[in-house]
Amino acid sequence: MKLYNFSLWLFALMAGLASASVTDFESFKDTFNIQEHMGSLSIYHEPYLGGLSSRFPESCEIRQLHVLQRHGSRNPTAGDSVTNAGYLSQVQDRLLNGSLPINYTVPGNPFQFIKSWIPVIDTNNADKLSSSGRLELFEMGREILSRYSTLFDSDVYEINTAAQNRVVESATWYSYGMFGEEMKNKSNFIYVPEDESAGSATLSDFKACPVFNEKRIDHEKTKHIRSQWEKIFLAPIRTRLNPYFLNYSLTNDDVRSFFYLCAFEVALKDGSDFCSLFTSSEIINFEYDYDLKFSFHGGPASKWSSIVGGAYVNNLAESLRSVNNETNNQKTFFAFTHDTHIFAVEAALGFFPDITPETPLPATKNPYTYSAKTSSFVPFAGNLITELFQCQDQKYYVRHLVNQQVFPLTDCGYGPSHSSDGMCELSAYLNSPVRFNSTNNGTNIFNAACKAQPTNLTVHY
Ligand SMILES: *[C@@H]1O[C@H](CO)[C@@H](O)[C@H](O)[C@H]1NC(C)=O
Ligand SMILES: *[C@@H]1O[C@H](CO)[C@@H](O)[C@H](O)[C@H]1NC(C)=O
Ligand SMILES: *[C@@H]1O[C@H](CO)[C@@H](O)[C@H](O)[C@H]1NC(C)=O
Ligand SMILES: *[C@@H]1O[C@H](CO)[C@@H](O)[C@H](O)[C@H]1NC(C)=O
Ligand SMILES: *[C@@H]1O[C@H](CO)[C@@H](O)[C@H](O)[C@H]1NC(C)=O
Ligand SMILES: *[C@@H]1O[C@H](CO)[C@@H](O)[C@H](O)[C@H]1NC(C)=O
Ligand SMILES: *[C@@H]1O[C@H](CO)[C@@H](O)[C@H](O)[C@H]1NC(C)=O
Ligand SMILES: *[C@@H]1O[C@H](CO)[C@@H](O)[C@H](O)[C@H]1NC(C)=O
Repeated sequence: MKLYNFSLWLFALMAGLASASVTDFESFKDTFNIQEHMGSLSIYHEPYLGGLSSRFPESCEIRQLHVLQRHGSRNPTAGDSVTNAGYLSQVQDRLLNGSLPINYTVPGNPFQFIKSWIPVIDTNNADKLSSSGRLELFEMGREILSRYSTLFDSDVYEINTAAQNRVVESATWYSYGMFGEEMKNKSNFIYVPEDESAGSATLSDFKACPVFNEKRIDHEKTKHIRSQWEKIFLAPIRTRLNPYFLNYSLTNDDVRSFFYLCAFEVALKDGSDFCSLFTSSEIINFEYDYDLKFSFHGGPASKWSSIVGGAYVNNLAESLRSVNNETNNQKTFFAFTHDTHIFAVEAALGFFPDITPETPLPATKNPYTYSAKTSSFVPFAGNLITELFQCQDQKYYVRHLVNQQVFPLTDCGYGPSHSSDGMCELSAYLNSPVRFNSTNNGTNIFNAACKAQPTNLTVHY
């Protein structure tokens, strides 16, 4: 990816910060939408990646479609740490029972809404999709069938899905979106276990990588980096919000929990008064906290990203190569998964060249202009689509879409337009040094580095 894409982001951000109430982050949009900057808890939206047209190129025919799709909006996960349903439901109680004591007499106290607030996080719903999550996936299935209708000429379609409930349910709604009631006959669901037994077929990244798990790789480092950043970005927010409480000093986790309440209330009821507690630049610093986490833990700042993402990439590459094989005419490939898996795959594909183990993101300042934004790449219902075209010159060309926007590939030449159209000729794409090890040997590398279990699943991604 070229630097000008980043500078666009920077320019837009600066323009936003210059005006009093930060309105114009993504310059192609009218307003700064907090809900699009909440890391992997962001609502689904199309990112700004340079603005290339996502239409099918003239004189090319679509030949294959590969979908790597995250589950939709969800409830908080089970557990008691600050992002989890257990913790957040206690914060709800504490706000209502006065153990987080709001001083309602402070003029303009932004917590006034608590007086009439009805909490929605319920530990009984932990881990589940939300109703908007169902809708997102249904709609996505509809859009996919409509855009790629010429590829849908089979009786039955393989739908690979990580075996966790919310992912399986997402795959189910997506299939309903594509096929309606007929989906019961048209979908062949392949459940990929979330544990080590999945081996290189995994759709749950490091969960199938015993070495990564047993050695707790990246764990301490990620924790350390995030605690450094937390000290810097949360202190001013605590100081700003403290006067709205009665002789009470907010903790970092209190402030974090307000942020998560904002995100999950949006996921569960489409809006939240907690979101208006924060300024746009505070939200962008939360976003950075997410990006540090995803980047250091098995992401582009870790040498393990291409290892954990490489197995999928190798499998994808085999499917792309098979377009020439007349005995093998599968045209649509579906896989349902998690944010961390998509992010690792994108790292293994070379999407984040500015972040490496040698040049990681800094822990002490938000540089704003980096590639690997979880908000842009893996919001709820986020997806990575790989399109394979055959064009007038008879050659095959690859294009990636990130949440339905063209990702500007720049490492493997030009597409049929002979300009930067985001496309690469198939063998140039597969042999680019950026992803060569993954496309050619990713499965072996995964198996060897992870000491992975042999898989008994036959999957086509
Ligand atoms: C308020 O709720 C919290 C969390 O459920 C609980 O720990 C605390 O004891 C409650 N305090 C009062 C005064 O009821
Ligand atoms: C609550 O707010 C009022 C109005 O600003 C202030 O006079 C009072 O001291 C505050 N109470 C506490 C305990 O901070
Ligand atoms: C599914 O297939 C069965 C057997 O061919 C048929 O009886 C049934 O009507 C089909 N159901 C739908 C929803 O198409
Ligand atoms: C505020 O809290 C501190 C420490 O908990 C306590 O010493 C002090 O008396 C409290 N002040 C008021 C006005 O309640
Ligand atoms: C073509 O596909 C078939 C069936 O999947 C496979 O057995 C065969 O090895 C493939 N041929 C080539 C040249 O890849
Ligand atoms: C690819 O693998 C080779 C041999 O294992 C290694 O020397 C090289 O550094 C790898 N390239 C990348 C970009 O990781
Ligand atoms: C593929 O990866 C394996 C495991 O790391 C390695 O032993 C092998 O040499 C690699 N093959 C090639 C052709 O680089
Ligand atoms: C694969 O292995 C798992 C246990 O590791 C087993 O539950 C499953 O039935 C096996 N699947 C196939 C297709 O053999």
